[in-house]
Amino acid sequence: MLIRNVTVATMGEGGTGYGLRPDCAVLIEGDRIAQVTPEAKLAPTTGTDGEINGEGRLLTPGLIDCHTHIVHGGNRAREFEMRLEGASYEEVARAGGGIVSTVTATRDTPETTLLAQALTRADALIAEGATTIEVKSGYGLDIDTELKMLRVARAIGQERPVRVLTSFLGAHAVPKGVEADAYIDDVCIPALKAAHAEGLVDAVDGFCEGIAFTPAQIGRVFEAAQALGLPVKLHSDQLSNLGGTPLAAQYGALSVDHVEYSSEGDARAMAQAGSVAVLLPGAFYTLHETQKPPVAAFRQHGVPMAVATDWNPGSSPMGSILLAMNMACTFFGLTPAEALAGTTCHAARALGLQDTGVIAPGMRADLALWDVEAPAELSYRIGVNPLHTRIFGGQPCQ
Ligand code: NIG
Ligand code: FE
Repeated sequence: MLIRNVTVATMGEGGTGYGLRPDCAVLIEGDRIAQVTPEAKLAPTTGTDGEINGEGRLLTPGLIDCHTHIVHGGNRAREFEMRLEGASYEEVARAGGGIVSTVTATRDTPETTLLAQALTRADALIAEGATTIEVKSGYGLDIDTELKMLRVARAIGQERPVRVLTSFLGAHAVPKGVEADAYIDDVCIPALKAAHAEGLVDAVDGFCEGIAFTPAQIGRVFEAAQALGLPVKLHSDQLSNLGGTPLAAQYGALSVDHVEYSSEGDARAMAQAGSVAVLLPGAFYTLHETQKPPVAAFRQHGVPMAVATDWNPGSSPMGSILLAMNMACTFFGLTPAEALAGTTCHAARALGLQDTGVIAPGMRADLALWDVEAPAELSYRIGVNPLHTRIFGGQPCQ
């Protein structure tokens, strides 16, 4: 297949710019990109079957939402009202709301219903050009429900033309009436082993926070992950700095996520470990957070920054990756080029993927064609979706 007459944002310059190539054509063979070539060099006869005339539109890598919780039961609109009445996220959590209330709803929701609901969320991301979505467990907190969530996550990738990567997030919250250390040893680690045995886990995540787990407890989960040969990532420094980030770096984390309260030392540790900082402006916005992630330190130390929705029913009920990009620019001062790198090449790296996120020969033909003149338009508008065509594995499909 040939996509003609496009401006290509290759995103192949290590996240420093768009890698723009005007007046180009992209040749696709099977599910891979074969060639990016100037339109002028194409023989007039090249490509007839399955040719797309881009008519000067912008072609980018398909977007990657590298941090979501789109498999969950119920909703937390009541909690939204409580926060508007003055309660904080932590107060709601400590009063039995928050993550553990979604745990009850997720346990009570049948697998088929969970999947139907998750598919509508995946569809919203796909409609904005997403070709890869990460999905976490973590609203089960018992072995059966953690496995149920991960099976549903895998099923999304079978039901829809999208690639799904799963993260086991058993260390997300301490279930009611259970002691945290006992939960880690007796439920979380056995659930991880069971999920891994069924091929349901691509990476292992945790939540290091006062309302969740200590670095020592997360360290035990990371030991178990390492023993299984699984990469790790961590929700760290979202509400406070407990030292989760150096721990994640010590285990060579693919990414450290949220990072509002991270220090310059944390940024240095991430740079040394090659970890991506995943910025989640939807949670920052929803929780009225004022502490911003140390973007200047990330830039200075060369920490790649990704941007994701964190779509979850509590802290980030946000179903738009384009809005996450807009917010990353407006709240955190990313350039639109950094925001697009954050949902393409750097998001791929946050998931440990080397075959997507960049337009270059040999990469997967996961692409998005946009009705825009300049790539900054993807971050600039609010609530506007300029997607023209999404291409997944070389096939145009919406
Ligand atoms: O990424 N920080 C922890 N986990 C989610 C919140 C989940 C929830 O509130 O249900 C997050 O923000
Ligand atoms: Fe999250």
